Amino acid sequence: MGFKIAVAGATGNVGREMLNILSERGFPASEVIALASARSQGTEVSFGDKVLKVQNLEHYDFSDTDICLMSAGGETSKKWSPKIGAQGCVVIDNSSAWRYDAEVPLIVPEVNPDAIAGFNKKNIIANPNCSTAQLVVALKPLHDAAKIKRVVVSTYQSVSGAGKEGMDELFTQTRAVFVADPVENKKFTKRIAFNVIPHIDSFMEDGYTKEEWKVLAETKKMLDPKIKVTCTAVRVPVFIGHSESVNIEFENEITADQARDILRDAPGCLVIDKHENGGYITPVECAGEDATFISRIREDATVENGLNMWVVSDNLRKGAALNAIQIAELLVNRGLIKPRAAA
Ligand code: A2P
Repeated sequence: MGFKIAVAGATGNVGREMLNILSERGFPASEVIALASARSQGTEVSFGDKVLKVQNLEHYDFSDTDICLMSAGGETSKKWSPKIGAQGCVVIDNSSAWRYDAEVPLIVPEVNPDAIAGFNKKNIIANPNCSTAQLVVALKPLHDAAKIKRVVVSTYQSVSGAGKEGMDELFTQTRAVFVADPVENKKFTKRIAFNVIPHIDSFMEDGYTKEEWKVLAETKKMLDPKIKVTCTAVRVPVFIGHSESVNIEFENEITADQARDILRDAPGCLVIDKHENGGYITPVECAGEDATFISRIREDATVENGLNMWVVSDNLRKGAALNAIQIAELLVNRGLIKPRAAA
C-alpha cells in the first residue's frame, strides 16, 4: 500500500520537477494528484509515462491524501496549508510562508533531519530557499570539522527561481535584443538579458533584500544560530542553476585539501575541483542533476582560518523539488506517517 500524494502548483516550474522526481525516484505512491489554480483546471501535466489532468486546489478534498507537496506561492500556502494540515495531510511547502515559524520544521535532510520531530504540531514542514539549500549542504560537513564563525556569500541566481514568467522574460528579451525590438521588463525590475540585477525579492528597512535575509535566517535555523552570515543576492541571465561564491571563516584550522576530502565524502556533495581550464562546474552543467557541486576550493590568506569556494546546484531540484521529496522520503523511512487509506 503506497501513499496518496498531491502536488499543488503542478503546472509551475517546481511543481513539474516534483512530478518528474517522484517518478524518477520511484516514490512509494499509490496515487499522484496534480493541483493548480482554477485557470489550469483540466489541463494536462506529465508524470513519468502517464498524463495527469490538473484539478482545482480550491475544490480538492484532502481528507484521504497523505502528503501535499506545495509550490504555489506564499499567499496560496498561507491560505491553504493550515486547512490541509488540519485535514491530517502533511504539507511540505516550498514557499517562505512557514519557514520562520517555531512550530514548523525547516529541513534539509543532509543537514538537520532530526529537526523533523514535531512536524505534526501544524502538519506543515518547510523547504528552504533555493540559495540556502545548496549552501547548507556544503557548509554542514565543514562546520562539523572546523566550526564556522562567519560566512560571506554572493549568489548568482538563475531566472527559473522567479518561476515560469522569469524564464519567459529572459527568452523574450534575448530574442528582442537580437532582432532590435524594444525590450520590455515585466517580471524583473531591469533588463535581465545580457545583464545582472543585484535585487531579488523586496527591499527591507536596512537596505538588504528579503532574499538576502532569508539566507542568513535559514542558515541559522538549520545549521547553527551562532554562525554569522552576510549575503548579496544577484539575478543573472541563466535559465537553470544557482551559483554562489562563498567565503568562510572558521574557529579551527582547516586547509583547502582537508576541506576537499571532507566534501568528497559528504552526503549530497560532489567536488569538481581541478586547477586547469574547465576544471570546475558551471550552472549549465548542473541543470537536471541532484548534487550540490563544489569547485574552486582555496585558502583565504586574509583571515586566520579562511576558505573560499564556488557552490553550484540545480535550483529547481536541490533548491526546491528534490529537497521536498527527500523530506517526504524522510517521513516515510522513519515511519513518521502511514498511508491513511490502509488505516
Ligand atoms: P496556475 O498555472 O494555474 O497559475 P511558477 O512559480 O512556476 O510560476 O508556478 C506557480 C504555480 O502555482 C503554478 O502551478 C500555479 O498554477 C500555481 N498557483 C498560483 N496561484 C495559485 C492558487 N491561487 N491556487 C492554486 N495554485 C496556484
